[in-house]
Amino acid sequence: MKRFSFKLRTGVGTTFFLALLFVAISSFADDITGNWVARSPQSDGTSLDTYLDLKQVGSGITGHIRVTQFYYNIVESTGGPDSFVLTGSMMDGHNERRVKYEVRRVGNELHVATRRRPDSELIEMVAHPAPAGEGALPARLPLPALHDVPDNGLARTPPMGWNSWNKFAGRVDDQAVRAMADAIASNGMKDAGYQYVNIDDTWQGGRDAQGKIVPNKKFPDMKGLADYVHGKGLKIGIYSSPGPKTCAGYEGSYGHEEQDAKTYAAWGIDYLKYDWCDARNLYADEETQAVYQKMGDALLKSGRPILYSLCQYGRAEVWKWGAKVGGNAWRTTGDIHDSWDSMAKIGFAQNGLASFAKPGHWNDPDMLEIGNGGMTEDEYKVHMTLWALLAAPLLAGNDLREMSPAIAAILINTEVIAVDQDKEGTQGRRIGKLGEQEIWARLVSDNQQAVALFNCGTEQAEITVRWSDLGLTSTPPRVRDLWAHKDLHVLGQEYTTAVPPHGVVLLRLAE
Ligand code: GLA
Repeated sequence: MKRFSFKLRTGVGTTFFLALLFVAISSFADDITGNWVARSPQSDGTSLDTYLDLKQVGSGITGHIRVTQFYYNIVESTGGPDSFVLTGSMMDGHNERRVKYEVRRVGNELHVATRRRPDSELIEMVAHPAPAGEGALPARLPLPALHDVPDNGLARTPPMGWNSWNKFAGRVDDQAVRAMADAIASNGMKDAGYQYVNIDDTWQGGRDAQGKIVPNKKFPDMKGLADYVHGKGLKIGIYSSPGPKTCAGYEGSYGHEEQDAKTYAAWGIDYLKYDWCDARNLYADEETQAVYQKMGDALLKSGRPILYSLCQYGRAEVWKWGAKVGGNAWRTTGDIHDSWDSMAKIGFAQNGLASFAKPGHWNDPDMLEIGNGGMTEDEYKVHMTLWALLAAPLLAGNDLREMSPAIAAILINTEVIAVDQDKEGTQGRRIGKLGEQEIWARLVSDNQQAVALFNCGTEQAEITVRWSDLGLTSTPPRVRDLWAHKDLHVLGQEYTTAVPPHGVVLLRLAE
């Protein structure tokens, strides 16, 4: 047998060659060029992945970082040769969003540290090599030509129900949804009109070999869950995104719109909240209408009436075209939080959109925070009152199993709900503002009006409403206080009452 042998000859040439080889190998080891992924397994069986697709060019780094709904271009890198601070930038509508990642090469790993926001906690993770291209944004799909999607006939009054996000976020599961359905069916909410039990983000697992969406471990049987909710005389809602990823980084409906709509229909789903999220990385705001139209059409073809709730935070003046894509409701704002500042900032900024609301198609200033603990009872009454005057969807966002009687009385005030659900569907408007006092009114059926006297100040205030400001020529014969549940004896051209700090008095006037 022939043997190959390699004999090393020593000499100046060989030493030079070995030195070159060493430099080449060690610089290869330090170069962090490549596609890296840090996988964070989650208890629902899914994995939250952060991808760093990096290219080392001289002493700098270029490339992308992708996590949940965010896809950043690396616009700056400092440090080196094996430890860098990378600055990622992405356009979110017309706003730039920036993030910093500290990246250190340790052997065949990248040790990565970042903060989601400058003031939030440091997140540390370890990234390993990933297959080239994994985690990259998919190619942009062509968009349909615009047309008017026929009205699905749903939501003749603003939708009412419950949604999981505000209280449960990623902790929502089958058991919680069943428990909320039980509560709504037995605590008076169902009788008061609450109907939809809506699962928000984080239910998705992935797709099977046929591309069909499958739930994760938290939702072992979607059809069974829908049957359960229907068995309580209620309806069930689900959540997705037109992007490849939802806001929490789960599987979106991108490229699977019709297939997903059919799957929802087969499960017995009655409501879809469709959240822009990762679609922002593929489409401009001006293209939102075509993107939402695609799912509007898909839902109509699904074979089941499915209420269509648009969530794209009020971009591209959605109120002007939300109904054309088949939307039954459209978010007009970013996310609400359980605080007076957040609720009041959103709620009182809604003036001026009234003309876009009508039966079947509603402005949506986001879900209710009532009962989540961050506001006083008076503040939650302001929340409920304002949403009722705005003809807003009333989607409770608290844990209905542990609701105090006071919170239940706010959510189940049938006289306030009657204002929200008035069949004329005329959204209210601001009548006047004086310092921290605001008066809003809404026309309701039978020539009546609902009038709210809001005190946004931190001291009790006397607030006066003049009947003439409401277009009335005389004292209304009947004035009812909808929070006190009593008729008032009112004479003269105006009414003055004490309103608590961050509080409201809501009246219903009958001619
Ligand atoms: C966005 C929406 C929220 C909620 C979360 C879920 O932030 O605006 O209402 O659905 O996504 O990830």
